[in-house]
Amino acid sequence: MRKKPIKILGIETSCDETAAAVLEVEFKGKNFPALKTLSAVIRSQIKLHAKMGGVVPETAARAHVKNILPVTEKALRDAKLNLKDINYLAVTQGPGLIPSLIVGVEFIKAMSLATGIPVIPVNHMLGHLYSPFTGETIPKFPMVALIVSGGHTMLVLMKNLHSYKVLGQTVDDAAGEAFDKVAKLLKLPYPGGPEVSKLAEQGQPDFEFPRPMINSKDYNFSFSGLKTAVLYFLRDHPQTPKADICKAFEDAAVDVLITKTLRAAKQYKAKSVSLSGGVSANKKLRQDLQNICKQNNLACFIPERHLSTDNAEMIAIAAAVQLSRGNKPIPAGKIKANPNLSL
Ligand code: KG4
Ligand code: ZN
Repeated sequence: MRKKPIKILGIETSCDETAAAVLEVEFKGKNFPALKTLSAVIRSQIKLHAKMGGVVPETAARAHVKNILPVTEKALRDAKLNLKDINYLAVTQGPGLIPSLIVGVEFIKAMSLATGIPVIPVNHMLGHLYSPFTGETIPKFPMVALIVSGGHTMLVLMKNLHSYKVLGQTVDDAAGEAFDKVAKLLKLPYPGGPEVSKLAEQGQPDFEFPRPMINSKDYNFSFSGLKTAVLYFLRDHPQTPKADICKAFEDAAVDVLITKTLRAAKQYKAKSVSLSGGVSANKKLRQDLQNICKQNNLACFIPERHLSTDNAEMIAIAAAVQLSRGNKPIPAGKIKANPNLSL
C-alpha cells in the first residue's frame, strides 16, 4: 500500500453546479483513508436557471463549458499546486443530466490524454454516500445511509466501507423533487427546497398531510402522492398561509424519511446512520435525525452544509475510497458519461 500522501483533483458537473476540488489522501490499508481538503471551488448556476424556474439541461451544459476551466484553475491555485502535482483525476460519470455530465467527463479525458494523469470515474451517488466523511469523522459499520437529493431518495446498508446494498428507494418522485414541486405550487422562487424549509420555520398548521408508505413493509418511498395532497389542499383552502403548508409538508416528508431510516437501522442492527444529498441541508431533517439517533444510541453522520448539495470534494473523497479498495484507473478513452448509472 502507498505510504506517501497523494493528491486527487475532483470534478463535478452532473447538474447545475460546476465544481472542482483538490484532496490530499493518505491511505491506511483497508481503513478509511486520511483526508485533507486543499481547495474546493463551486460555481453555482442558480441565477441562470431561476428565470426558467428549473434547470434547463442545454443552458446548464453551456454554463459548465464556460466555467469548467476557470473553476479548475482556481482549485489548483487555491491548493497552491500545478497539474503536475496531481496523482489522480476524478470525475462524476453519472447519474445526472447527460449534457452536463459530458462536459466534465470530456474535459477530464482531454486533461488525462494531455498529461498522462490517470482517471477514476465516480458514481455521483457514491460521492453523496461518502460526503459525511471528510477526515474529521470516519464511518462506523454496519451503517444505514439515507441519501436524499433532487434526483434520488434511497436507503443503503453498508456492512463495511466497500459494501453497499440498496434497501429501498423512491417509487416515484425524489424527496428533493417533491420539495421543489411544492415550492412551484406555492409560487416560491427557485430553487424551491431551501425556500420551503425557510418558510416552514414560521408555520403553525392545524392540519396534517399524509405520510405515504410510512407503514409499508419495504424500504421504498413515495413522494408524488404527498405533493398531490398539497395540490388538492391548496385548491380547497386557497387562503392558507404558505408557511403553514410548507411546515405541514416538511413534517410529513421528514417523518417518513426518519421513520423508515430508524426501522432499517434497527432491523440491520446498525451502529450508525448517515444522511447525505441536497435535502440533507434541511434543518428539520438534520435535527430530527440527530435526536432520533441520540435516543437510539446510534452514531449519526451528516455532512457539513456545503457538502450536502453537489460539490467536487465528495467526488474526490469517493475516488479516494475506490483507490483504497484497490480499484484501478480506467483508460481515459474508455470513460463514458452515463446519465442512468446506478449504485
Ligand atoms: O444533491 P443535490 O444538490 O443535487 C442532486 O444530486 O439532485 O440536491 C438538490 C436538491 C434539490 O431538490 C433542492 O431543492 C434540495 O436538494 N434542497 C433542499 C434544501 N436544500 C437543497 N431540500 C429541502 N431543504 C433544504 N434546505
Ligand atoms: Zn447530487
